[in-house]
Amino acid sequence: MRRNRIGFKLGLVILSVFVLVLTSLGLAIDRMFTNFYNTEKRTEVDELTTHFTMMAESPNISTDRMLLKFADFSNVSIVYIDEKGNIQAHSGEIDPSDTSFIRSGDVKTLFTGNAVSLEYTNKDGERYFVAARPIPTESEQEITSSLYVLSSTKHMDSSISAVRKLLVLSGVGAFLLALGIIWIIAQILSRPLLQMRDVTRKIAVGDLDARLSINSNDEIGSLAEAINNLAEDLQRYRDTRQEFFANISHELRTPITYLEGYSKVVKDRLYDTDEERDQYLDIIHQESLRLQHLVNDLFELAKMEEGKISLSSEWIDLTEITDNAVRKIQLKANDKGLQLNTHISRSIPLIYGDGLRTEQVLINLLENAVRYTEKGEINVYLQEEPTYVYIAVEDTGIGIPEDELPLIFERFYRVEKSRSRLHGGTGLGLSIAKRLLELQGGEMLVTSTIGIGTRFEIRFMRDEQGEHT
Ligand SMILES: Nc1ncnc2c1ncn2[C@@H]1O[C@H](COP(=O)(O)OP(=O)(O)OP(=O)(O)O)[C@@H](O)[C@H]1O
Ligand SMILES: [Mg+2]
Repeated sequence: MRRNRIGFKLGLVILSVFVLVLTSLGLAIDRMFTNFYNTEKRTEVDELTTHFTMMAESPNISTDRMLLKFADFSNVSIVYIDEKGNIQAHSGEIDPSDTSFIRSGDVKTLFTGNAVSLEYTNKDGERYFVAARPIPTESEQEITSSLYVLSSTKHMDSSISAVRKLLVLSGVGAFLLALGIIWIIAQILSRPLLQMRDVTRKIAVGDLDARLSINSNDEIGSLAEAINNLAEDLQRYRDTRQEFFANISHELRTPITYLEGYSKVVKDRLYDTDEERDQYLDIIHQESLRLQHLVNDLFELAKMEEGKISLSSEWIDLTEITDNAVRKIQLKANDKGLQLNTHISRSIPLIYGDGLRTEQVLINLLENAVRYTEKGEINVYLQEEPTYVYIAVEDTGIGIPEDELPLIFERFYRVEKSRSRLHGGTGLGLSIAKRLLELQGGEMLVTSTIGIGTRFEIRFMRDEQGEHT
């Protein structure tokens, strides 16, 4: 039972409620039956008494005998008393010495012409319903005797106890049935929970391949799905992290090897011409820039992880920012023979945000566009819509497969690992850019077609207070 804690608790509650309902229902039925029998019996005794007193109205001996006989047939006892309460005659198994059912108060009532009814238990504990009536004489002048009719409840009591036995029996049956059903329900309920416990324990110790196979479409099913998703996320996170560390060490090692080698060449003057020396220095310069870029990205990321990034927001002019970013990237685009066009709408409202960060985001998108486009053009749009202002960067590059689109914003994610290494990327740019943008209340969207090109769009909600430039 310890294994099935939830099932046990639930079962206990349901069972208690069930027992409570069953008991009160049983008691109610028992009470109903008892009352019904009692009322029936009492009415019967009353009717018999009326009957007998009517028969006894003309008191002659033959009628009396007949009456006593009748009483025997009817399974009741009758007792004649005089006005002093003494027994004149009786039928059945009445013990004449036990006359406690004849109470002096009742005798008075009877001899003033009224009926009496009571319950009485004899010395042996047998219960009787008793009804008594005065026997009016023919002259109706005075009452000389009264008639008691005593009816034993023995038969009735045994009927009632039979009913009771039946009730208890069916109650026990229903209880056992409920116990069985509850046990099954508890099993059904607790099995998936136990499975979840086992799987989450496995995940916790690093077995990220563990999955749940629960397919119900209720709360338990959705919890299982959430656990599976969590495991998938963890798995992906672990994989990308491992890959990242592998990449990082590679990325770091390559420039460092170059730096070491070429600086040694220059230091030891192992070159023939000044031109050659400049070439080597150029490589050293390029590689240090590359290292700087990588280290900057890593720092940025670390700061974001700790939530330590601080924005200095103000009203910024996106036109200026776009111009600056495009100017900075122009050279790279020219080097690759790519045309860089801007389409800037005339009046763009000011946006509340961090100018430098926004420029950083845009440069990131432009760098990607240049990096992943071999020929064609790059178009930059700055336009406004009724509810937002957007900057879109469109290229005619290699594109991104559709199923990888949601993943490119993840840290360290690169489409085709060789692709970015070739281009010198680490897969951090977009994740940093997206986070920076979201910190400012903006959002980033992407659409892409393989071989045709990619379009990144960054949106800023229009602020009512934004003034037009
Ligand atoms: N304009 C684009 N066209 C095609 N693929 C792109 C484009 N922009 C991004 N990608 C793909 O998305 C991946 C993630 O981009 P991201 O900018 O995060 O990293 P990166 O460019 O590889 O490295 P980093 O920007 O950190 O130097 C890239 O590796 C690239 O495969
Ligand atoms: Mg990039």
